[in-house]
Amino acid sequence: MLISRFALALAVGAAPVSVVAQSQDPSVVAGTSAAEARADALLARMTRDEKLQLIHGYFPPFAERTPGAPVADMIPSAGHIPGIPRLGIPNLRESDASLGVANQVEQRKGDVATALPSSLATAATFDPEIAYAGGAMIGSEARAKTFNILLAGGVNLTRDPWAGRNFEYLGEDPLLAGVMAGEHIRGVQSNQIVSTIKHFAFNAQETGRMIMDARLDEAALRESDLLAFQIAIERGNPGSVMCAYNKVNGDWACENDFLLNQVLKRDWGYDGWVMSDWGAVHSTEKAALAGLDQASGQELDRALYFDAPFREALEAGRIPQARLDDMVRRLLVGLIENGVLDAPVVEREQPIDYAANAEVAQRAAEAGIVLLKNEGGVLPLARSAKRIVLIGGHADVGVLSGGGSSQVRSVGGAPVEIPLTSGAAASFARMTWHASSPLNAIRAVAPDATVTYVDGKDPEAAAAAARAADIAVVFATQWTTEAQDVETLALPDDQDALIAAVAGANAKTVVVLETGGPVLMPWLEKTPAVVQAWYPGQRGGEAIARILFGGVNPSGRLPITFPASADQAPRPTVPGLAALQAVDAAAASNPGAPQGAELQPFPVDYPEGSDVGYRWYQREGHKPLFPFGHGLSYTSFAYSNLAVSSADGLSVSLDVTNTGDRAGAEVPQLYVASADHPKRLAGFTRLTLAPGETRRVVLTAEPRILADYDTSLPGWRIAPGDYRITVARDAADAGLSANATLSGSTIKP
Ligand code: BGC
Repeated sequence: MLISRFALALAVGAAPVSVVAQSQDPSVVAGTSAAEARADALLARMTRDEKLQLIHGYFPPFAERTPGAPVADMIPSAGHIPGIPRLGIPNLRESDASLGVANQVEQRKGDVATALPSSLATAATFDPEIAYAGGAMIGSEARAKTFNILLAGGVNLTRDPWAGRNFEYLGEDPLLAGVMAGEHIRGVQSNQIVSTIKHFAFNAQETGRMIMDARLDEAALRESDLLAFQIAIERGNPGSVMCAYNKVNGDWACENDFLLNQVLKRDWGYDGWVMSDWGAVHSTEKAALAGLDQASGQELDRALYFDAPFREALEAGRIPQARLDDMVRRLLVGLIENGVLDAPVVEREQPIDYAANAEVAQRAAEAGIVLLKNEGGVLPLARSAKRIVLIGGHADVGVLSGGGSSQVRSVGGAPVEIPLTSGAAASFARMTWHASSPLNAIRAVAPDATVTYVDGKDPEAAAAAARAADIAVVFATQWTTEAQDVETLALPDDQDALIAAVAGANAKTVVVLETGGPVLMPWLEKTPAVVQAWYPGQRGGEAIARILFGGVNPSGRLPITFPASADQAPRPTVPGLAALQAVDAAAASNPGAPQGAELQPFPVDYPEGSDVGYRWYQREGHKPLFPFGHGLSYTSFAYSNLAVSSADGLSVSLDVTNTGDRAGAEVPQLYVASADHPKRLAGFTRLTLAPGETRRVVLTAEPRILADYDTSLPGWRIAPGDYRITVARDAADAGLSANATLSGSTIKP
């Protein structure tokens, strides 16, 4: 994939330095890559009808509504594009795959797959290798299930703690999210199938996601969400980019010339294809000319824009033939570069090693669980504890999953599944637990203890059980889903009162949070230990048990700031929510009233600009409950001997020592600040150290993190002058610091 038709030359300090992104295919720089040449040869053999067949996809559940749809060839999933056998182009079968091969509302009865923990948990590992392994695992299962295009790679920045899809994304920092998404995509595509990256761009909230208009100036866009996409595309080379539902600065993302033609295809040299999100197309000519290459799940749009209307526009000359050729060429390039034509999937389900894949899920969960608080050495739990009570969260049978199109029907099935009766997610989401019982897992690691479970519905009964136990572990849950945001950061269903009651009864109360993202913790002072388990996936019970008992030393770090109160965040409430609720209420009492989807687009402004997450907290002087990057360990670490080099890019080196008595993993984080900017994460690494071991670590700054985007250049500009360098354990930690003087430089867009 052509990423660096443009080389990123930059000078920091004296010398001009290297290239951030390298094309793996040297012929690309010269002009036409081998894949492009092959795509052109195929194009030359294609009829117009065949070309038109490839630019729109069916939504299998509704495909029978479209006359002539090859329904018999489809399997229930998100998308299907018929192939062209005479040219060796296979059927393109699309499945959602953020956390595993999805099977929402069990549309394929009995078809299970391995469920990773939420993407936020993967981001919390700060370990690109774990992101890659997860992607590779999902891709292998997808291939075995005959899918060759995966709707994965969600990298929208988590700007709001209440956003319903935060669990599907990789946190609030563009470098971390971009690196992790890129590795995940690379992993998927290592199976010779295509991964998307999504949702391009700015799908930052679920409320009114199909009508909201995200407003942000170009520099802020380029420095934040777009930078995450840019980094991920450079690392992962996804075959396809999925454009988003929402508008960006007045134009729908899927007919947004700025985003698709100018940024993605021109500035970044992207040569794969742009597919729409499902139901995100609003026009024919405008979308095609703005850079949309394929309409996905067409039955979800108001018209089959890229079917008959496209043909008419082509015949009338309103869309040039060259544009149709470009659309198909891009699709072919994405398929060819990833081996979809050369290594077609076998159209019959292949065996899957679910036991091995479960290990991948467990490893991600264990590395991503974050120990938020641990006072008085309450954790790890002594194996000698005789009476342990687990409370709430269905911890007797499983762990919670996030909802929506990413929903995996995991191996072992769903021990708890609660349908929704209302709301935007009701048609395709159910509250679902994976069959990984913390109770069984804890009994297995503490065979000499009496481990009991109470459901927590009655706080007094729970408190009584806690009083009678040596240790109480409350499993608190917050279900979040695609298509809905959470209205409050408080734990739902009076769980705060439950935790307070239990903590009041037993001083050794541990809270395990299974949440989509940050929640408020009014009981924090009264609880000595808190573990952020996210949605921990289909081996979540085992992972939690091993963390609690010390079989695994916690090493996860927060990829998203946990606010101390809702009003610390840039938007304390959900934009548009009140208006949509009013419309829904009117519709409920008057069926003739307009539905939410018929409302006019509403703007959402982003006063934080590119200072997303922890940068906003610094700028506003807010002290969060837990900062970005935070995470405790059962051992301790020390940093020393910081040295800064600005001779060949900006890099730092330092010694990291495990000063405790257990092996553990540490995540040193390089932050860079200037007179104009708060600290920004410019580099990170993760290393495992034996007790007493010291290792010298080198961290190299991503140059675009040091820069401002200058639209007049256009490009990135690193201002000459002084920068404050900090290497620390989290965004609020003083760590080790030093100054560096950079001479200034520019980088192409
Ligand atoms: C989601 C996408 C998903 C698609 C297909 C949309 O509603 O936003 O992430 O890939 O549906 O299921």
